[in-house]
Amino acid sequence: MQEHYDYLKKIDKDPSNLIKGLQAVQASEGYVSDESIKAVAAYFSLPIVEVEGVLSFYAQFKRNKPGKFHICVCDGTACHIKGSTLILDWISTELGINDGETDEKGLFSLETVACLGCCSLAPVLSINGKVYGNLDRKGTVKILREYRAK
Ligand code: FES
Repeated sequence: MQEHYDYLKKIDKDPSNLIKGLQAVQASEGYVSDESIKAVAAYFSLPIVEVEGVLSFYAQFKRNKPGKFHICVCDGTACHIKGSTLILDWISTELGINDGETDEKGLFSLETVACLGCCSLAPVLSINGKVYGNLDRKGTVKILREYRAK
């Protein structure tokens, strides 16, 4: 195994620990790459197809490398009622990416999440953890353009 994946050695090689292994990869890399799948499969002596099956079953695992600016659009109840799907559409139109994707330059990635804990500001999004609320189309696009210019 490559040195890069030394952190897996803290986990017992029993295949029942596969999810723990994948969580360790994601905690370290921010996502689970094709290369990581091969490393994890080799570590737990499992077929690659089995690791891929587990990955696709659990929504917690990300398959795309996060962008420099990771956008989380809240789709909790309060934000949904106040138009979170519109926000997703505006972002998709502005950046050319859909939920779960990263743009070609690796600048932006987009994810829908559950309540961000600031429902009074609904609808809400966060970028790298910084929260923006009371969003309308103009405000959302302005925020994205400010990040693009950074
Ligand atoms: S539902 Fe969006 S912040 Fe709570």
